[in-house]
Amino acid sequence: MRPPRGVAVLGSTGSVGRSALDVIARFPGKFRVTALCARRNAKRLGEQARRFSPFIVCLSEERYAGDLGRLPSRTRVVFGEKGMTEAACSDSTGIVLAAASGVSSIRPVIAAATRGKRIALANKELLVMAGRFLVKAARSGGSEIIPVDSEHSAVFQSIQGHRREDILRVILTASGGPFRNSTLRAMRDATVTQALGHPTWRMGSKITVDSATLMNKGLEVIEATWLFGLPPSKIDVLIHPQSVVHSMVEYIDGSLIAQLGVPDMRIPIGYALSWPERLPLELPRLARHRMDGWIFEPPDRKRFPALALAYAAAESGGTAPAVMNAANEAAVGAFLSGRIRFTEIVGIVGNVLAGWRRKSRPVTLSDVIRADTEARQDAERRISKMRTPER
Ligand SMILES: NC(=O)c1ccc[n+]([C@@H]2O[C@H](COP(=O)([O-])OP(=O)(O)OC[C@H]3O[C@@H](n4cnc5c(N)ncnc54)[C@H](OP(=O)(O)O)[C@@H]3O)[C@@H](O)[C@H]2O)c1
Repeated sequence: MRPPRGVAVLGSTGSVGRSALDVIARFPGKFRVTALCARRNAKRLGEQARRFSPFIVCLSEERYAGDLGRLPSRTRVVFGEKGMTEAACSDSTGIVLAAASGVSSIRPVIAAATRGKRIALANKELLVMAGRFLVKAARSGGSEIIPVDSEHSAVFQSIQGHRREDILRVILTASGGPFRNSTLRAMRDATVTQALGHPTWRMGSKITVDSATLMNKGLEVIEATWLFGLPPSKIDVLIHPQSVVHSMVEYIDGSLIAQLGVPDMRIPIGYALSWPERLPLELPRLARHRMDGWIFEPPDRKRFPALALAYAAAESGGTAPAVMNAANEAAVGAFLSGRIRFTEIVGIVGNVLAGWRRKSRPVTLSDVIRADTEARQDAERRISKMRTPER
């Protein structure tokens, strides 16, 4: 029997990270945790370390380490990008679950891909920002990038055994978020609590706001271009509020192949860890009543302009997707802290993109990281000039 595969979980204290640990804990014969990384939630990280006994725990900065508590004797504590790279590249690690939000894990994940580690990728921002470099690293290291995002996992499952040249288009489904039927006026006045009220999925706050603006789907369109080697014109989006059909692939003979299931991230996480095998996950099955009344409708691109921005950034290529992603992260942060209105998020992203002159192809990863930093600064400058909304 094969020994358990070592898994480094980047972002272990977050929503995806905790679901991943739940899956890993169910299959001790198949997986063992080698490293756990978080930004600053040392208390939870310490609890996880006591349960899973990793070789490494990593925090973004040393000043957060006070709350780690007593750790198992074999566990070392490391910090920052260097520490995360050590965690992702250690010999005992075979799979890196990339689930830290933001783009801080880009260098560690690329380093791990270069060393042949499987990348179970939840963090779509990494592909949006630096898809060219991550895909190249995986190729040169002989590793694979297996999507964890439920839509991309559905597409990945729907293309197994098929030829890429037979794909007519990929259809990514979207729940439509909490404002699917809201007027623009209601969206303008939306509170943080309303924006965080996702109808079907429980996720971290940044991705939940992205789902409400549909920027999440825009990021996923770009993610899909890198994962499946398809142009943006071959990737469509359909609103499917039931979130049962996680995405589908249409082939040249007219066949549509889809993956369906309950909206539970443990399914795509389990598949990314165990591919090409499937794990006997004992989760609630799709109930008969959830098969009724499915809706598929095109997104309203007027109320949700983020989609058009993302397609344009994908077509431009170069650093445009990184700029869009960085501006969006800054704007979502400003909305969550009450500094701007919900509808201003995408406006800021559009303005930063429109002002971005250097759309040429990035030569190095440092070019992309520089573009990311400059776009954040530009977004922050614009946000600081805006009037704080009255509540
Ligand atoms: N949630 C979902 O269902 C879902 C589905 C598909 C894709 N994704 C993607 O998966 C990623 C994680 O999403 P999430 O919902 O799990 O987010 P989340 O709940 O906000 O958790 C984010 C995780 O990343 C860690 N983190 C953030 N910055 C870090 C840094 N600089 N260094 C180390 N760790 C850092 C956080 O640590 P602290 O707790 O210490 O802050 C936390 O563990 C995102 O890219 C998201 O787009 C999520």
